[in-house]
Amino acid sequence: MFQEKREDFPTLCGENPPVYLDNACMTLRPKPVIDAIRSYYEESPGCAGRSVHRYATTVSRKVVNCRSKMSKMFNANSPDEIIFTKNATHSLNQVAKGLSWNKGDVVLTTDREHNSNLVPWLQLEQEQGIDHRVVRSNTDNTFDIEAFEEACANAGDKLRMVSLSHVGNLDGVATPVKQAAKIAKDHGAMVCIDGAQSTPHMKVDVQDLGVDFMAFSIHKMMGPSGMGGLWGKMELLENMRSIQSGGSTVETSNYDSMVWSKPPARFEGGLGNYAGILGTNAAIDYISDIDLDMVHEHEVSLNRVMTSIIKDVNGIEIIGPEDPSLRGGICSLLFETIDAHDIAILLDEAADVMVRSGMHCVHSWFNDKGIDQGSLRASAYLYNTEAEVRLFAETLVEAVEALG
Ligand SMILES: Cc1ncc(COP(=O)(O)O)c(C=O)c1O
Repeated sequence: MFQEKREDFPTLCGENPPVYLDNACMTLRPKPVIDAIRSYYEESPGCAGRSVHRYATTVSRKVVNCRSKMSKMFNANSPDEIIFTKNATHSLNQVAKGLSWNKGDVVLTTDREHNSNLVPWLQLEQEQGIDHRVVRSNTDNTFDIEAFEEACANAGDKLRMVSLSHVGNLDGVATPVKQAAKIAKDHGAMVCIDGAQSTPHMKVDVQDLGVDFMAFSIHKMMGPSGMGGLWGKMELLENMRSIQSGGSTVETSNYDSMVWSKPPARFEGGLGNYAGILGTNAAIDYISDIDLDMVHEHEVSLNRVMTSIIKDVNGIEIIGPEDPSLRGGICSLLFETIDAHDIAILLDEAADVMVRSGMHCVHSWFNDKGIDQGSLRASAYLYNTEAEVRLFAETLVEAVEALG
């Protein structure tokens, strides 16, 4: 469906390009993103918002432009609600550690969160005595809305925050965020979503979803590594403390006091990753030109191919619902007797297919089920083809049958 886009990605060009199916970890970058990073260093290697010379003003203009495009993309109320961060982990830490908590405040997450949306809350539980509770999913890993509603009700007036992955990186299963946010709000809670696996694959409108914060990863959206973002409602950002203070975070300082900057500057302490922001600017242009509904459709169609080849093979279990349309482009597999890392190495060396193996930073889910070797996860994106996922699935099945 997006065959012509492959030419934009240098790693997919040439005689025998490898098959890249580790997109849930990080996507490939198209040429305009690479060019934007190079042009920063070659043409205007300045610092935004400080100096007034031409390098600096060029970069400042591009930073403003990028923030404004991201604000439109997610339907924020204002570009000032968009904060540049290092990654989604940084964004979620900013929310968790930037808000004020009382002992006993309840924070709800699910049982299949990435460590980035679990560990900050566990840390707050250890250090500040919040009460972190986990809402169990249905047996097929889909969101259990009744269990969620019950957990909200049980928390009573102690419920302060509901923090949910929009789409899970373990299995590609989406959370009905709009419905969950409505319930959480009815119980007086703030809602934060981890959009790391949703923003690259679907249109996300933060106002329509009815949430308060959203963390996302630019490197999963065809942008540079080391770039992420946080969107937050202005009235909440205005009252949130920065987890990093210093240059940019204050309007002025005296020997004994300072005046905090307004958002977003308050949260962007120190000299920024301007090459990353300019690369982000190009990535947002690139992704904004693509119909994300079609991307989702394409990923599901590729997942149908993988699933149909793999699903009835002895010794392999697909994590999540059998229906690929509920797992986007992710096909995550458990093996009865074989080590997932061995298969991942074999796929790379024998068939030029790159996938991820391990626990994908969702250790808690695997530990809870006593699964100690993790899974093998293939995750497709717009530039993947049917021939590629077929090669992956057929090589995998051959390997499992030979080794099992
Ligand atoms: C669902 C989810 N949340 C959070 C993260 C962490 O993202 P980052 O690497 O940008 O911190 C990931 C990364 O894989 C993820 O998949």
